[in-house]
Amino acid sequence: MAPHKIILDCDPGVDDAIAILLALASPQEIELLGITTVAGNVPLENTARNARRICTLAGRQDIPVYAGCSRPMLEAEGRRSKVHGNDGLGNVTLPEPDFALQEEHAVDYLIRAIHAASGEITLCPIGPMTNIALAIVKDPSIAPKIKQLVFMGGAAFCPGNSSPVAEFNIYVDPWAAHVVLSAGIPQVMFGLDVTLQAKINSNYLDALQQVSPLLASATAMMRSYGASDPCLHDPCVIAWLIEPSLFSGVEGDISVSYHDDIHRGQTVVAVKPRHLADNQTNITVMTEVDKPRLLKMLAERLSRL
Ligand code: RIB
Ligand code: CA
Repeated sequence: MAPHKIILDCDPGVDDAIAILLALASPQEIELLGITTVAGNVPLENTARNARRICTLAGRQDIPVYAGCSRPMLEAEGRRSKVHGNDGLGNVTLPEPDFALQEEHAVDYLIRAIHAASGEITLCPIGPMTNIALAIVKDPSIAPKIKQLVFMGGAAFCPGNSSPVAEFNIYVDPWAAHVVLSAGIPQVMFGLDVTLQAKINSNYLDALQQVSPLLASATAMMRSYGASDPCLHDPCVIAWLIEPSLFSGVEGDISVSYHDDIHRGQTVVAVKPRHLADNQTNITVMTEVDKPRLLKMLAERLSRL
């Protein structure tokens, strides 16, 4: 089967970094066309630098990296996450980027790339969805040309991690999430419902860090991040593209609460009743993962780098 052509829209962030490495380690299944960066865990200048630090670490300076939006759609300053350290990658010693950012803005790149490969591109947002939302607002004709949206974000049937009801990526820019998730794109959601199951521990990291200098750096990042959040949220998106059988979920209809009140960023999913099998739904929400197989696959793939 031809590899998935993906654009990874991210806010590295340690788990974003592992998702990038997993994609780079899996050329049979993933063709990483480009990386677009957005403000999220840390400011845009950090996420744009960190995406290139990870590509430099993996020797993949050929991957084009684009800087995108530095703030959410309707707020002058986005919320940040402290679990990734001040620099966004656990304050771990990593190479500085040895290649430049692309000149083009991420929003313009997304529009250009989607038109150039209509029906072929899988968009993988694993941070706030600001870039993708603005691309759709600027050129609504791209929405039907996006093959699928496979994203980390939301909490359909469990509490949030940024508020009692909202997950960070959606909470930071609920307006963007509403624009994107209501655009009619086929979509697969990796929310906290499933990503909280993707927990790693120190024994797993002890084994990984012996494999190579690259994995020593990757495990150092995960140890730092894991002190506050031991879940590999973002890599679940890439793992599903590589091996869909690792996950299972439900079909339903999603709506995002985008008013700045106690429901801000809540992702409400109405699950389709089984007896209404022919009813159209707008999302697949993943709820289960085979954790031992996921972690085994992740270790095996990262060891290839
Ligand atoms: O809630 C987890 C998500 O928020 C992950 O994408 C993590 O990188 C942060 O962006
Ligand atoms: Ca992220």
